[in-house]
Amino acid sequence: MLWTSLTTALVGLAAVAHGTAAASDPCAKIAGQTFVVPSDAMACLKSFPFNETLRQNVLTVISTVFDFYTFEYYYLSSPAPFQESTTNIRADIARINSTKYATDYDFNRALYDFTNQLNDGHTRWLPYCYDTFQNLLPTPIVNIEQNGVWGVFIAPDLTEFIPLVGTQYTDYFKSIGFNWERLAGAQVLQIEGQDPYAYVDYIADTISGNYLDHGVRVNSVFSSYRISSTSFSQRFGDLAGAPFPDQNSLTFTLIPVNSTLPETVTVPFLASYAGNNFTDSGSYWTNNCAANNETNGVDLLASSSLKKRDQPGRRLARAVIVDKSQTNAVGLPSPYHPTAPPVNGSTGVIKSYILPDHKTGVMFVGSFEGDYTQFQTDTQAAITSFQKAGVSRLLIDLSNNGGGYVCLGEFLISYLSGTNFGYTGFRSTSRANPLAIKIVQNLVAKGITSNYSYYAPDNWAFLNDTEMPNTYDYNSPSVPLFINGQTDASSQRFHDLCTPYDVTPPANPPFDLKNVAIVSNGDCASTCSMFSTSMYERHGTKIAVFGGKPGETMEYKGMAGNQVLEWADIDTEVKTAGLKDDPLAPPDLLVSGDLRHNWRTAWSYLDESRPIAYVSEPATYRYPYTKETYMNPQNLWTFAVNQLFD
Ligand SMILES: *[C@@H]1O[C@H](CO)[C@@H](O)[C@H](O)[C@H]1NC(C)=O
Ligand SMILES: *[C@@H]1O[C@H](CO)[C@@H](O)[C@H](O)[C@H]1NC(C)=O
Ligand SMILES: *[C@@H]1O[C@H](CO)[C@@H](O)[C@H](O)[C@H]1NC(C)=O
Ligand SMILES: *[C@@H]1O[C@H](CO)[C@@H](O)[C@H](O)[C@H]1NC(C)=O
Ligand SMILES: *[C@@H]1O[C@H](CO)[C@@H](O)[C@H](O)[C@H]1NC(C)=O
Ligand SMILES: *[C@@H]1O[C@H](CO)[C@@H](O)[C@H](O)[C@H]1NC(C)=O
Ligand SMILES: *[C@@H]1O[C@H](CO)[C@@H](O)[C@H](O)[C@H]1NC(C)=O
Ligand SMILES: *[C@@H]1O[C@H](CO)[C@@H](O)[C@H](O)[C@H]1NC(C)=O
Repeated sequence: MLWTSLTTALVGLAAVAHGTAAASDPCAKIAGQTFVVPSDAMACLKSFPFNETLRQNVLTVISTVFDFYTFEYYYLSSPAPFQESTTNIRADIARINSTKYATDYDFNRALYDFTNQLNDGHTRWLPYCYDTFQNLLPTPIVNIEQNGVWGVFIAPDLTEFIPLVGTQYTDYFKSIGFNWERLAGAQVLQIEGQDPYAYVDYIADTISGNYLDHGVRVNSVFSSYRISSTSFSQRFGDLAGAPFPDQNSLTFTLIPVNSTLPETVTVPFLASYAGNNFTDSGSYWTNNCAANNETNGVDLLASSSLKKRDQPGRRLARAVIVDKSQTNAVGLPSPYHPTAPPVNGSTGVIKSYILPDHKTGVMFVGSFEGDYTQFQTDTQAAITSFQKAGVSRLLIDLSNNGGGYVCLGEFLISYLSGTNFGYTGFRSTSRANPLAIKIVQNLVAKGITSNYSYYAPDNWAFLNDTEMPNTYDYNSPSVPLFINGQTDASSQRFHDLCTPYDVTPPANPPFDLKNVAIVSNGDCASTCSMFSTSMYERHGTKIAVFGGKPGETMEYKGMAGNQVLEWADIDTEVKTAGLKDDPLAPPDLLVSGDLRHNWRTAWSYLDESRPIAYVSEPATYRYPYTKETYMNPQNLWTFAVNQLFD
């Protein structure tokens, strides 16, 4: 292998002449550093030459995976207000196939940008070789109202937040004599010479991705509170936490607190490394870029992989976006943590409180990820605590909830609606392309069941909630869909099968559903979108969204597909069905990366001809953040209670 011999060569060279290898190898120069000057990080990323073999491999995988992508034809003319995402996916792939690229990074970046601008967090090329750095600016911005006027400000909590990144980060700015502390709370008049909201729009259009709605993407440009894993966290936002180290600084015109004079300040970025360790270009490639034992799927029926599925039962469906800023998340400064004591069931992704009014229970549902059973026991514990305390109304915070297990969304709706309400999922379909048709045929013929395959018919129920027998081929006949002048073959419609849960929800709603409301920043994706859409469409739940661009509309949900499959998942389906040698099957990826895609569509209750992702449901209640609420969840909840409940 080329890189093995190159590594050996470099090691030999280093033994002869210390330092010369480092001088000529841009990766060796930054090896072992947690924080790296962006131009040095870029030099390492750009040190790998363009390779046509790798391009053909990646593009072949990508064009095959797009055959499974349920939203492909919607992109030809994305319905308003999502028209910004319109593109011809096949033409984009052809363009990237025929463009000349100087480096492997440039090729991967073009592919990343194309999929990122689909604005579907379920459908993206994630090149693990090149997303190892996050470019951090020590001046994240927020969007708050002061004296009745919305404006962009440097985060006022800067001096509490930035030190949480670590002394290596702050020492760098000390070493170059850059005083970021004095910029805390400064009013931003311009960014890169533009109106700050215009620049925020630019970031929302080119960097943010993940959410179809522009308004929702605007909010992800700003710094915001969230739960990362199971802890309170402050997100840098997409302006100050960029996905590539491709920018060295950003220039602001601003008025510092305690000043009246506008000044122009150029703020340096410093990139944070979160990839695997390396010592030089050779080991950088081996440890971050070459395909590894987890890149591709496996044949679950092969004896060598049988132990990988020793869990009986269904494979759990997931609908979740990837937010790279989760990998090295920074905490929320402690002054902004809720002061109300948490109730039972608050150690996982849900944090629950009774507000000082003693009437309102709050569940901050940070995601639908993590421990599948604990989510259910925590829900039960919180609601039991609320009931024991005589709480009469419930506020649910979904800020920055990126989704998770599809069945946990359905569980929470079921818990709030009571099991008597019935099915809480959506009608769903996958695409019946020729390879998908063969997969289901093979599964049926071989008796492969839902413990090995997402495609297995016994993963799904008919619309009367009876489980499909594993002999039922739901692609035969397939159902034609007409989208933007194209005819697409789809599966028959089916329901999810989530019951029985580990915790049985109550038969009747624990609270009058009129006294349940939702707040968020709109950055609520995947399972979170399905949860909020279902609460809105079926119970008329009040949903309030904070922030966004003043005077512009904003959806209450981000990206709403029904299920995502990672590259390794769809490859596992192909291999387990015995089709890896079929001419339609994609090859294994030669590089470390993921091409995830939205594999199932959820259809709206209100209009069965439209995916919920494309049903525009602007937030009916919109509020600005203020200095009191932008980073303080409990203050925000108290404000919302006064607005949303009598
Ligand atoms: C391109 O990548 C392939 C697959 O990793 C490798 O075999 C080949 O040597 C590379 N070509 C060049 C010119 O480096
Ligand atoms: C890229 O273009 C070349 C030349 O036209 C073609 O042979 C190849 O199949 C294309 N690759 C993909 C993945 O479409
Ligand atoms: C502004 O002035 C007040 C009063 O002198 C001081 O407490 C505060 O720290 C100053 N703020 C900044 C950001 O310099
Ligand atoms: C990577 O390097 C860091 C710092 O040099 C070290 O603390 C860590 O243990 C290393 N990790 C691995 C997996 O070798
Ligand atoms: C892949 O290899 C790593 C390191 O050797 C190991 O920790 C991991 O469990 C392996 N994963 C699989 C799926 O075999
Ligand atoms: C998967 O299901 C099949 C058929 O229902 C059963 O025979 C097999 O034992 C199951 N395997 C596992 C690992 O649960
Ligand atoms: C909280 O959990 C403890 C331990 O399980 C239990 O004894 C207590 O009754 C619970 N409190 C409420 C309010 O449900
Ligand atoms: C549910 O629907 C399926 C498909 O239409 C049908 O075969 C089955 O008999 C129905 N089951 C019940 C209990 O109605």
